[in-house]
Amino acid sequence: MLHGKRVLLIISGGIAAYKSLELIRIMKKTGLTVRCILTKGGAEFVTPLAVSSLSENKVYKDLFSLTDEAEMGHIRLSRETDLIVIAPASADLLAKMAQGIADDLASTTLLATNKPVMAVPAMNVRMWENAATQENLNTLHKRGIKIIGPDEGDMACGEFGPGRMVEPEEISAEIIKYFGDNSPLAGKKALVTSGPTQEPIDPVRFISNRSSGKQGHAIAAALARQGAITKLVSGPTNQPDPAGVEVEHIETAQEMLNACQAALPVDIAVCAAAVSDWHINEEAKTKIKKTNDTPPTLRMATNPDILATLSSAGKNRPTLVIGFAAETDNIVANAKNKRDKKGCDWLLANDVSAESGTFGGSKNTIHFINDSGIEDWPEMTKKEVAETLSEKIIRCFNEK
Ligand code: CTP
Repeated sequence: MLHGKRVLLIISGGIAAYKSLELIRIMKKTGLTVRCILTKGGAEFVTPLAVSSLSENKVYKDLFSLTDEAEMGHIRLSRETDLIVIAPASADLLAKMAQGIADDLASTTLLATNKPVMAVPAMNVRMWENAATQENLNTLHKRGIKIIGPDEGDMACGEFGPGRMVEPEEISAEIIKYFGDNSPLAGKKALVTSGPTQEPIDPVRFISNRSSGKQGHAIAAALARQGAITKLVSGPTNQPDPAGVEVEHIETAQEMLNACQAALPVDIAVCAAAVSDWHINEEAKTKIKKTNDTPPTLRMATNPDILATLSSAGKNRPTLVIGFAAETDNIVANAKNKRDKKGCDWLLANDVSAESGTFGGSKNTIHFINDSGIEDWPEMTKKEVAETLSEKIIRCFNEK
């Protein structure tokens, strides 16, 4: 979600430093590049090895280290980041910041930086309530430092009150919010369907198809990475839920439609699911038995068309509705008809014949159809198709 963004995490002295290890893990999961400065106090609570293993980066500790200063001085540490997060921010480090003291690597970097700073205080309740700390916080707040927390609750020292560091998930939500506001699709809502649907015949049997969900899941992940608030409605697949995406798991076409309609209004809808066209008219409530030699006749009824329903959703119609066309022959001609019939804005046609290897495979060759005509995209991985599509979506919203 936040690939390409960089955070410099300063861990100062306090028992809450153990929570910073979890914060590093969560930040890495969002795609952030994380560098860490560990103060002398911080290193009393967490080890440099734990911090560097989790951040997958060298840990910086010493202002006067000849090698560190030559390779990566305090000025570069601040220059090569997009945001500085201090968690935990001790009363001592906050006081140094407020006074402009620069006597170690953390305080010197903070004095030298022109980057935005978030401070997450953690200290004993008496230290928090002390007038000196409150005045320092006031000064820092006026200078534009964002103060997150603290929480109120039981403390490691046995007292109760404000001073507990806020939980890593909450800190990471603030970081996502900060970066999300600058992402190309920030504030946009996206809905993606993916995978096959399963239509039950009886409690143990169903009809379905070979869709793997790879393409739809990759699109949801790409849109979330670009900052869109993304909901994925997925049929049964082996794909893991993409990071930063709200996923609703469904089985039947009717359930997929219900989940999509409940997600409206959205700005972008991408229907990548291979929805079963039919369901069994009357699903047997008990297992159908082999009572005699005549196999059962399955009577089918037509499923709702989710793409067509979203395309004609009146005032709830997403600004941009995108469908796929799975074809085995006359690909472009069939896909053009499909686009007209379903009323979507863009259609990505692909060859799903057995020879193409598209269904279940990791590659796709797309013919992109919109009002302006047809673009033939070269063969790409499904992840590359997702990236290319999300870039196109960004351009479309920039032009609007
Ligand atoms: N689709 C849908 N709901 C359905 C059937 C299809 O939303 N009940 C969507 C798919 O997600 C895809 C597009 O419609 O975006 C085209 O799906 P495809 O399987 O290619 O076409 P069908 O409509 O099923 O038509 P046909 O099987 O005749 O090719």
